[in-house]
Amino acid sequence: MTVIEPDPVVQLREQMRERHLTPLWELEGEIMGVRPHPGTRPWLWRWSQLYAIAERAGELVPIERGGDRRAIALSNPGQGGMPYATSTLWAAVQWLNGREVAPAHRHTSQAIRFIIDGAGSYSTVEGDRVQLERGDLVLTPPWTWHDHGSDSEERAVWMDVLDIPLNNYLDAPFFEPHPDDSQKVTAAPNASVLKYGVGQLRPAWEPPSLGRSPLQTYKWSDTRRALDNLAKVAADPFDDVVLEYTNPHTGGPVMATFTCWMQLLRPGVHTRAHRHTGSSVYLAYEGRGATVIEGVRFSWTAGDMFVIPSWATHEHVNDGADPALLFSVHDTPLLKAVDKYRSEPHDSPDGRQRVTGEFS
Ligand SMILES: [Fe+2]
Ligand SMILES: [Fe+2]
Repeated sequence: MTVIEPDPVVQLREQMRERHLTPLWELEGEIMGVRPHPGTRPWLWRWSQLYAIAERAGELVPIERGGDRRAIALSNPGQGGMPYATSTLWAAVQWLNGREVAPAHRHTSQAIRFIIDGAGSYSTVEGDRVQLERGDLVLTPPWTWHDHGSDSEERAVWMDVLDIPLNNYLDAPFFEPHPDDSQKVTAAPNASVLKYGVGQLRPAWEPPSLGRSPLQTYKWSDTRRALDNLAKVAADPFDDVVLEYTNPHTGGPVMATFTCWMQLLRPGVHTRAHRHTGSSVYLAYEGRGATVIEGVRFSWTAGDMFVIPSWATHEHVNDGADPALLFSVHDTPLLKAVDKYRSEPHDSPDGRQRVTGEFS
């Protein structure tokens, strides 16, 4: 009778398991990938559905303490059931009924709001109240008191983007409700826009604001004018006419962890494709067009929201007769800050992908 000696490697593996240790040689490929394999999937949410659901929530769900915001989050099917648009970005459509107030609070998540429709609504950040119009971008930097309300009978609807997934991954979330529903307004109406809205000029007695943007709200009329001016002189091969919202005193992005863009795709433009690390959330703001992501065509019209995951090849198309506008948020500043940004153009003779399907 032969005695089979236990395999010493198997024994060693068992000893490791009991001691909560894992040999790298068995799963090197899983944790040290040769290229990104994001869980985040390319996805698109239709405006007609977003709007109908937000409107119904406006009828059924009150805004109360504890549920400060009537926000409906984009839940990417690749995020394992978490209500995250990408691995770093949370995005939502938010609905505010006329005369409502979304109570004041503050949190360490960095946040922006892009107004889709909101006549009569306002936003107060650290005592500075700004009246809002369609196309305005509002910043709420980390740990700043903010509340939103409406002075009219009209509802307001906007897109929210926060770095909640990143904040949670880093175990760094803090949140605090303000003792009052609305904080005191301590500045003159629209003060931040009036003081800092012409970016290349600064009140001479003030030092530059280097840590965060001094401008709380970026007005649509300024953004539109800058886009139209840029379109007269220059465009990018991958994104056509595109502007980054900046801290006017540094030229840097509006948040440490993400940046915001407004993009004009001129009629007939079909950009070259590329890919880069970092994820993006888009809102089709005006017009119609398509974005080809990993060979799949995502057709969009105004109000649709969609996601481009890290390292997914993408290009934009406007095959209509009118201009198309995209607002977008990208975690690029984060990737660059930690030295993990990489990009490359698509390798094909015309710089475009072969379309293999249509998202439905
Ligand atoms: Fe908030
Ligand atoms: Fe890109």
